[in-house]
Amino acid sequence: MTVLIVGAGPAGLVLGNALLQAGVDCVIMERRDRSHVENRARAGITDHRTRLILERLGLADGLLGNGTTQTSCEFRAGDESFVVPYAEHTGGIGHYVYPQQLLVRDLIEAFGKAGGDLRFGTTVDEPPPGSIVACCDGNPSIGLPRNATVHTRQYPYRWLTVVADVPATGLVYGLHPDGFAGQMPRTEGQSRFYLQCSPDENPLSWNEDKIWTLLARRLPGTTPGRVLHRAILDLSTQVTEPMRHGDVYLAGDAAHILPPTGGKGMNLAIADAHTLARALIHGDVDYTAARLPDVWRAVTFADWLLALVNTPLQLPRADIEADYRMRVNRVTDLVESPGWFARAYTGTA
Ligand code: PHB
Repeated sequence: MTVLIVGAGPAGLVLGNALLQAGVDCVIMERRDRSHVENRARAGITDHRTRLILERLGLADGLLGNGTTQTSCEFRAGDESFVVPYAEHTGGIGHYVYPQQLLVRDLIEAFGKAGGDLRFGTTVDEPPPGSIVACCDGNPSIGLPRNATVHTRQYPYRWLTVVADVPATGLVYGLHPDGFAGQMPRTEGQSRFYLQCSPDENPLSWNEDKIWTLLARRLPGTTPGRVLHRAILDLSTQVTEPMRHGDVYLAGDAAHILPPTGGKGMNLAIADAHTLARALIHGDVDYTAARLPDVWRAVTFADWLLALVNTPLQLPRADIEADYRMRVNRVTDLVESPGWFARAYTGTA
């Protein structure tokens, strides 16, 4: 059997490497070129389970050698700062900060070294009948069957995301009545910022001054730096059920998308790939049944954290102020009793 893997993101590449190691023939087809895939700025936080999966496959050298550990996060509300040392509540387990595109480079290199067949610039329009196809091609996927149920929640706001040459102090969530602002670490000296905006704004037309002014207002102390990349994120939750239809399997964003809060997307994708590899190699797991509870857990956490940090901009101003005070109070509760949050955040629950 040859497994056709569509898409060379984290899910497709982990699956490809796992199959090759088990002697299962596979080919990865990726519609973009190599440089696009290797430079795509996306997630940056890997959790403990991802580390274990990568270690077991011998794919963790870059992560462990060049990633940095993260054991606390911070919520800010105006001048107030609330630090949550979450790893103190998980037996020391935190996160690794390692940008997705660097992990993708490692995985491509490992796949090539193992003799893997990876074809860039190759489009697959639909799953070829009679083949085993792993759709790791993002959203929307070519493998989404007409009879699947897609549980959807669309959020009434968007985030502008900006990667810039500014050193990060950690995982920082800024609550502000005007909207959320966040600063997340990437490589040394580089951060990914987020700015909540309403759907009727076009933040891509904002000049850099405006971006840094808004960030400094919502996250006091933010200093400007060279902007390397910016994009708008439409925020939604989508969970596809089932994740397998005959010989067609969905993994990663092809099966589910969730807001960036909690940094769960790439970790879910890699966990999907791990379970899917086992299903294809040994045939002893029901892929959908094995993955869906974990997917719903991650999606629920991302939704909860999004509601905690985002401002409901659609409400009247007075309601927004009240909502803001309540959210700040929820943060103080969280700091006092961080156990559940710590386990859910690190994926150790
Ligand atoms: C990110 O690394 O981009 C990230 C991490 C945690 C979040 C949101 C974003 O909650």
